[in-house]
Amino acid sequence: MNNDNRPLDVIILAAGQGTRMQSALPKVLHPVAGRPMVAWSVKVARELGARHVVVVTGHGAGQVEAALAGTGARFARQERQLGTGHAFLCGAAALPAGEDDADILVLYGDTPLLRLETLRELIAEHHRQASAFTILTGRVPDATGYGRIIRDADGNVMRIVEEKAATPEERAVREFNSGVYVMDGRAPSLAQRIGNENPAGEYYLTDLLALYRGEGARVRAYVIDEVDEVLGANDRLGLAQAEVSLRHRINTAHMRAGVTLHDPDTTRIEDTVTLGRDVTLEPGVILRGETRLADGVTVGAYSVLTDAVLETGVVVKAHSVVEGAHVGAGSDVGPFARLRPGTVLGTGVHIGNFVETKNARLSADVKAGHLAYLGDVEIGAETNVGAGTIVANFDGVNKHPTRIGAGVFIGSNATLIAPRVVGDAAFVAAGSAVHEDVPEGALAVARGKQRTLEGWSRRYWGGMRDKVREKLPWLAGWLERQRG
Ligand code: UD1
Ligand code: CA
Repeated sequence: MNNDNRPLDVIILAAGQGTRMQSALPKVLHPVAGRPMVAWSVKVARELGARHVVVVTGHGAGQVEAALAGTGARFARQERQLGTGHAFLCGAAALPAGEDDADILVLYGDTPLLRLETLRELIAEHHRQASAFTILTGRVPDATGYGRIIRDADGNVMRIVEEKAATPEERAVREFNSGVYVMDGRAPSLAQRIGNENPAGEYYLTDLLALYRGEGARVRAYVIDEVDEVLGANDRLGLAQAEVSLRHRINTAHMRAGVTLHDPDTTRIEDTVTLGRDVTLEPGVILRGETRLADGVTVGAYSVLTDAVLETGVVVKAHSVVEGAHVGAGSDVGPFARLRPGTVLGTGVHIGNFVETKNARLSADVKAGHLAYLGDVEIGAETNVGAGTIVANFDGVNKHPTRIGAGVFIGSNATLIAPRVVGDAAFVAAGSAVHEDVPEGALAVARGKQRTLEGWSRRYWGGMRDKVREKLPWLAGWLERQRG
């Protein structure tokens, strides 16, 4: 029997508070490897080709819904958390009426490790077995806290018994309910019959099993080996474990695809990052958000890149911080550089140590090798920005733009007071405070004229000869020689 063409709807239960997280943030919004946990569930649902994805929200509903905006998920509010059975009904009510032809997959919002392949297998098994209700289960030495799977002598799944209601023998059962199920289109109407006559007074979704059996329908369990996948992150320890597992998974995939990681354990690549071939990442590199590295990019140790786009062959040296910047092919950045949002570098640009850029467009082959601040500025090709150059873009209230042409030479320690225009091929003398525009091809010198006072040192130090003898022996000798 092949029902593989049946549509799939996914209901993600995510209304619970998650008190063990000890957090102001709703549990399912805690990020793991760059995505809120619940977004991992939505992502895997999408990858399964789900027709509708419904997220049941309650605690922090507004925040959760905002975080998932744009994912195509629809939302069902569960105002009071009356149990998983009630949450399921809320979710099912958000499915369009008259579309009960689908399989329904139930997921939680706190199981970011659940893999697409595992769910595909679960659904395939559901179809192979012509099952009406298939439970994803696993076996652990101690299943405390979970619902236990109770089978009869022939191995048929009879019941799920919750911890609170379990007898000592039932508690000894090692097969646990993951809370992930595939069910046929009858589930929403059957779930209407779930009651709350249990020690917790909650509506248990697990009661669906008995309701299906009451219909004479087939119930199956699909046992997975990798139980880690379904262990939810309930507290910060679980969160950290999930982070490590996902990091390992993401890094492994990148290495298989042709990325060199010098130290995978310390390299953190968020799930949203894209890497080309022959990218090399040194130890301690962190890549976040919509970062994209083209082929042959190298990122030096302990650099942090967020929403950064690096074209082919770019080299970022150690301890650089890049955010919201686009770096042209063949450019090199750092060590200790900071590219801030709105930075766009052309090809072959050189940014050296302790250079900060913000909202800066640097054309091809611009060089800013040392200690500069370049803010709200446009710089033409082949311009050389000397060490210590400051583009003073802020007047205390407003920011102003500066335009520097191509082939310009800015001497060291110049200050360009915005708004300013420096023409092509102009020179700015070192140490200038440039407060007037500089025309094309001109030299601007804007600094005090040098005075040179011969013999000044001898007079100065000579006036305190005793102190100099006591503290500065070399200078004392020099003073003696000057007398002779
Ligand atoms: C549930 C299962 C248990 C299983 C375990 C796996 C039931 C009755 N029991 O137990 O058999 O072993 O999951 O983790 O289903 N939620 C809502 N609204 C509610 C209640 C819960 O949205 O009113 C959501 C929670 O946010 C969470 C999920 O449902 O994501 C599971 O809720 P939780 O309270 O953790 O279920 P358990 O009692 O642990
Ligand atoms: Ca739980």
